[in-house]
Amino acid sequence: MSRSYYIAGNWKMHKTRAEAAELAKALVSQLKDGKHKYLVAPAFTSLETVAAVVKGTNIRLGAQNMAAEEQGAHTGEVSVLQLKDLGVQTVILGHSERRHVYKEDDELVNKKVKLALRHGLEVILCVGETLEERDAGKAESVCETQTVKGLLGVAAGDLARVVIAYEPVWAIGTGKTATPEDADAIHAYIRKVVGKLYGEDAARKIIIQYGGSVKPDNAAQLMAKENIDGALVGGAALKADSFVPIAKFA
Ligand code: PGA
Repeated sequence: MSRSYYIAGNWKMHKTRAEAAELAKALVSQLKDGKHKYLVAPAFTSLETVAAVVKGTNIRLGAQNMAAEEQGAHTGEVSVLQLKDLGVQTVILGHSERRHVYKEDDELVNKKVKLALRHGLEVILCVGETLEERDAGKAESVCETQTVKGLLGVAAGDLARVVIAYEPVWAIGTGKTATPEDADAIHAYIRKVVGKLYGEDAARKIIIQYGGSVKPDNAAQLMAKENIDGALVGGAALKADSFVPIAKFA
């Protein structure tokens, strides 16, 4: 298999600049011999600080969200131009907290995906079902809809800069992880959906991360699955002690 692993840390609304710099420095030193692709996504307020720490290292800089418009009268929003100005290389879009708490729908997420790609950023597009949807047997269809609508109008040539993160909402921050088998089944399904849209080759190549209570003690089992190509880590990404073993899973 030619896909490489991609381990990303989503720091959510945590850390002051000093705390963010401290964690970033620890990761830079402890991951410098790491074999996979890495990313940290601090809060907007720490992006510039963390950018200075990770610049020129094997750790990419990500943002957790961005506005759907390039610029203008959008109080409280942050634009793609401002992110690029800070050295941001990747943006996480459609995270379930954005979808469910801040009511972002597929159309808005798709607008952001296209804008980010147009500006040369890499996108981590998050998809995933709620517990209610899973119990109703809708896990696959929800992930399919979010994938198809999220990628609407994305050119085949831009797909190489798209990563999908499967994050079952019921597993985020709850300590409940999807079993490696359950996660792999959805990953395989998402890969099939990408195949229908962009062909077999694109489906084989696309990186699909798993997210939802990834910890040092379950990372290796998840990563061993055929269709799981990495992780999007929340809680365990806040400390080097827990993120580094995930990033260096054996
Ligand atoms: P968690 O969060 O690892 O704390 O479950 C994952 C995420 O929301 O990206």
